[in-house]
Amino acid sequence: MRVLIKGGYVIDPKTNTDGVNDILIEDGIITEIGNISDELVDLNCDVIDAKGKYVLPGLVDAHCHLRDPGFEYKEDIESGTRSAAAGGFTSIACMPNTNPVADNESVIRYIINKAKQDGVVNVYPIGAISKGQKGEELSEIGELKFAGAVAISDDGKPLKSASLMKRALEYSSMFDITVISHCEEMDIADEGVMNEGYWSTIMGLKGIPSAAEEIMVARELILAEYTKVPIHIAHVSTELSVDLIRHAKKRGVKVTCETCPHYFVLTDEACAGFNTYAKVNPPLRAKKDVEAIIEGLKDGTIDVIATDHAPHHEDEKNIEFSLAANGIAGFETAFPLAVTYLVKPGHLTMSQLVEKMCINPSKILGLNKGSLEIGRNADITIVDIDEEFVVDVKKFKSKARNSPFNGFKLKGTVYYTIVNGKVVVREKVLL
Ligand code: DOR
Ligand code: ZN
Repeated sequence: MRVLIKGGYVIDPKTNTDGVNDILIEDGIITEIGNISDELVDLNCDVIDAKGKYVLPGLVDAHCHLRDPGFEYKEDIESGTRSAAAGGFTSIACMPNTNPVADNESVIRYIINKAKQDGVVNVYPIGAISKGQKGEELSEIGELKFAGAVAISDDGKPLKSASLMKRALEYSSMFDITVISHCEEMDIADEGVMNEGYWSTIMGLKGIPSAAEEIMVARELILAEYTKVPIHIAHVSTELSVDLIRHAKKRGVKVTCETCPHYFVLTDEACAGFNTYAKVNPPLRAKKDVEAIIEGLKDGTIDVIATDHAPHHEDEKNIEFSLAANGIAGFETAFPLAVTYLVKPGHLTMSQLVEKMCINPSKILGLNKGSLEIGRNADITIVDIDEEFVVDVKKFKSKARNSPFNGFKLKGTVYYTIVNGKVVVREKVLL
């Protein structure tokens, strides 16, 4: 079986591709990129007309929550991967805060096997740093790696002990596995429920100071410098976090980091009216932070845009603000938010967006994805970045509807998602 993508504008900075090209896929593998003759077209060839559209490496998400095993009422591997495909993602790395926690070989194997059966995109599990994510004892990191985990993280919770984090870094370098840190100093966060500032004061809600994130970012940078082991900082949300990471990179510290669309689009004002759909951890911050995040994306301090897709049930959001769950279902809005708020205003080029949503996440997790090299599995996303649509959470493929972006008018529609040569989204329709 062959697929021929004709006449799209192909962007892949890794192979220096930036122009109108055809792409031929044979038996799931990219075999040719260039001006491909129509002579190949026969009954066995699926021809996709990509004229006027961008053809990109399939999007890679370095940070999501699939909730499977244990919280399938929020999302499962089938619904989560279908949501990812609808959003243009072909590879996703899922966090271990499931039930049971993905802190051992059997949960990692369960996720990999279930994804093979029910998943429509490539799924890469992330194992827990500490057993049960309790922050007391390291998981068997070698066991997680050999079972197929691509990284370790206690995401959802910080690792309170600096010495445990130091040891996690030391072990990770032995097993060549990426460490991802959720930066939050819990004593300073002190059960706050939104960003500390004007809006928390107006609403009479307990605030989380930016310092809760920044102190931990500083700790991780010091530990990465000390151990000389790379660290990846999850969901960066504040101005000083960006500054600290920029400074550490200048010092030669092996640090990479990600942010998420809600941190470059929204401020804590989105929580006004006690809007629980804007409740997320780390919390939405102030205008100066949003500006600093955009600056960090522009100057390369922030390497990755991840979704932190965090699906929750309506009953966990439709309650009073202080009790509501943290998180935003992000797969189906991440790419259009990046196009609308970063590419269209001229902060990033499409090529830079491909670096942050394909190449860098793949490199940091060692996935061998995120590029259109010949001989690679054909993971490809075809998009129209001028077509406008209105976000309607009722149309999400995710089980979850928790998004503060409902009703937003965005540019950037996903026309095709192709995973290992298989068309999963065709003409905007998830198959
Ligand atoms: O908002 C969040 N939701 N932040 C996290 O760190 C965890 C996540 C979740 O698992 O729901
Ligand atoms: Zn997360």
